[in-house]
Amino acid sequence: MSEHSEGKREHWGSGIGFILAAAGSAIGLGNIWKFPYITGENGGGAFVLLYLVCICVIGIPVMMCELSLGRHTQRNPIGAFRAITPKTSLLAHLIGLCIVLTGFGLLCFQNYGLGALLLLLGVAIFRYSWTVVGFAGVLTGFVILSYYSVVAGWVIGYFFKALRGGLDFKNTTEAVAEFTRSTGDVSWCIGFHVFFMFACAMVVWGGVKSGIERWSKILMPLLFLLLYVIILRSMTLPGAMKGVSFLLSPDFSKISSRGVLLALGHAFFTLSLGMGAMTTYGSYVSKKENLFISSLTIVGLDTLAALLAGLAIFPAVFAFNQAPDGGPGLIFHVLPVVMNQIPLGGFWVALFFVLMFIAALTSGISLLEVVVAALMDEMKMSRHLAVLLSGTVIALLGCLCAVSLDSWDRLPALHQLLQQTFGVGQSSFFDFMDNISSNWLLPLGGLMTSLFVGWIWGTRGAVNEIRHGADNFADVHLMSLLSGLREDPHHNNPQYHVLTLAAIWGIFIRFVSPVAITIAFLHLIGWMKI
Ligand code: PHE
Repeated sequence: MSEHSEGKREHWGSGIGFILAAAGSAIGLGNIWKFPYITGENGGGAFVLLYLVCICVIGIPVMMCELSLGRHTQRNPIGAFRAITPKTSLLAHLIGLCIVLTGFGLLCFQNYGLGALLLLLGVAIFRYSWTVVGFAGVLTGFVILSYYSVVAGWVIGYFFKALRGGLDFKNTTEAVAEFTRSTGDVSWCIGFHVFFMFACAMVVWGGVKSGIERWSKILMPLLFLLLYVIILRSMTLPGAMKGVSFLLSPDFSKISSRGVLLALGHAFFTLSLGMGAMTTYGSYVSKKENLFISSLTIVGLDTLAALLAGLAIFPAVFAFNQAPDGGPGLIFHVLPVVMNQIPLGGFWVALFFVLMFIAALTSGISLLEVVVAALMDEMKMSRHLAVLLSGTVIALLGCLCAVSLDSWDRLPALHQLLQQTFGVGQSSFFDFMDNISSNWLLPLGGLMTSLFVGWIWGTRGAVNEIRHGADNFADVHLMSLLSGLREDPHHNNPQYHVLTLAAIWGIFIRFVSPVAITIAFLHLIGWMKI
């Protein structure tokens, strides 16, 4: 099946083009906007360490699952799961049953909205088995892009403000007031949000090679260059080293169980995992690419970008004695105030917002591409129609998000619906979307993907896929590899060839990642206290 469809499907023009596009998807607002503020709120270095552990233990193995699933099936996430799902899967039935029972339970406790939703989900799993995971991924892409593009819209808006010299605040109180005023201005938010969606749609319109790949090849090097320039500026400010030490010295007393969960959710979000973005990008990869090395490179670049963003922001924040725990507004509140105190401040702020815009754009296009690829494969739509349709619907959903950002007053009916279904309380639609996608949908998607690859497709099938383009890399004895004895004849004794990269990966996706994610969930719903 995969051979027959490979001929028709568009592929990346080169290996480096693929890596840059995938790194572009991973490196986004998550790295430059979210990572610094959650690090700031959760005690700095200790949180960074936790996040790095989550990246290694869960991020890298799940990244390889998604890429190999995509390349093997040559399909969008829905088609990919459908192509491999067996006629009957006991595990899927078991999961479906648990969900149906939970749904009934919730109905009994008069939580009708969520109960009905779970019943529907359970029945869908009985009917469509694992394909539901792919479908949920595409839906998650919808949800994320609709609020992601609102934040990206703020970035564009702030860039123009910086150019016009409108960000010369004396203190953070002024900056906070301006931020609250701007984000409460519905037409300002919607205008720039639609502008961002339009930019994403233009790139995806061009297709895989001449749209996504071409732009990623231009934008990603530019992003790292800008980041480098801003770090140079930030680190040479007097007192900058306090910021560096905040980022790099772990204080374990600051690690809370909430921090662990945030680090896990963020690992998925920042690597674009759990919703099929990497499955979709993987479906455009040729059999010649080494998926092991590609995964490590993508994860490495993403982690580097997050740490560099931290190095760009915290030294500046500490040099001017600002608090690092400014929340989602950290960059918008603190950066303009800090930069104002140095020569050419407006220029640096504008440059920073260009950097954020580039990061957001290359991620936004990957989110849109997931939906577009699904529409193209499943509904046999042309690319242009799919872009038009999905772009418009997501833009409209984003408008809801932009409208209800500061208060629910404008959409009381929607508030009531979400209140009854999910118990959202007073948090905004925006917080709701962010919470449900980063803390629930992505880790759940990741859990299901690793269970699927580890137990349904099977590690043998997946490793056979990974072996294409990787020679015997997957089967190299890890100790020989690390010690540099790989070519030594004594080390090529098959009797000892047990601890290979492939074996370690298999153990991670069958046991370690699913157990770790499940524990995090049990904690999230309050059934387990760590
Ligand atoms: N990884 C992106 C970021 O860090 C966000 C994203 C999530 C993109 C999921 C695609 C899929 O900003």
